[in-house]
Amino acid sequence: MKLVVMENHEEMSKYACQLIVSKVNSLTSPVLGLATGSTPERLYEMLIEEYKQKLVSFSRVKTFNLDEYVGLRGHDKNSYRYYMDHHLFSKVNFTKRKNHIPNGMASQLEQECQRYEQLIKEAGGIDLQILGLGHNGHIGFNEPGTPFSSRTHVVDLDCTTREANARFFESIKEVPTQAITMGIETILESKQIILLVSGEQKATAMQRLLNGEVSEDFPASVLKRHHDVTIIADKAALQLQE
Ligand code: F6R
Repeated sequence: MKLVVMENHEEMSKYACQLIVSKVNSLTSPVLGLATGSTPERLYEMLIEEYKQKLVSFSRVKTFNLDEYVGLRGHDKNSYRYYMDHHLFSKVNFTKRKNHIPNGMASQLEQECQRYEQLIKEAGGIDLQILGLGHNGHIGFNEPGTPFSSRTHVVDLDCTTREANARFFESIKEVPTQAITMGIETILESKQIILLVSGEQKATAMQRLLNGEVSEDFPASVLKRHHDVTIIADKAALQLQE
């Protein structure tokens, strides 16, 4: 794993933005893996800026999001479909049908997971996957204890994850209890991975990632087994490092 230390969230976002722009510009049919959450919000704003300045075009790009809540419709403001439309998809020149997010409203959730896997395969795999880091080490919605061999699947969300995400909802009771997530093995098949980590509230998780063992108890630790991972972290997230 390569670690890039940035001054703050702004600089972290800028660095990630430039990596993505170069990747998109260097490939004929780029496939990006995308994340939601607070961490990449500024990054998406910067990508929109690059697009407006004609420094990048997304017309050839396919995207696959990591995850989606079960039971929220696409127009629900807490769904990840809504998040992506709002923060990125509707603001640049993506071809809408090339933006893939698991369908958390599917009547057959298992089939939906298999369909999602198949779509990624047909796209030729993910060229560059963006990840954020959960306080408990989750990546996507792969909570502690998820087998490293997991593929796209339905998960029961951890209490700590529901509490962390309750800030986006009226109350914790409204946070869905399940989600569909790409599996850990699915994520690890990406050709290149960028993990974005920002803020002091991630410092404990960051310390465990950098100094701890590879273990299913801390899903992000599996990234040590991938050949091309760049962690872009700001100083606040690294404050517990010597
Ligand atoms: C989101 C996702 C999650 C987040 C993680 C960090 O699609 O897969 O793993 O990346 O929970 O969230 P934030 O960025 O809100 O701290």
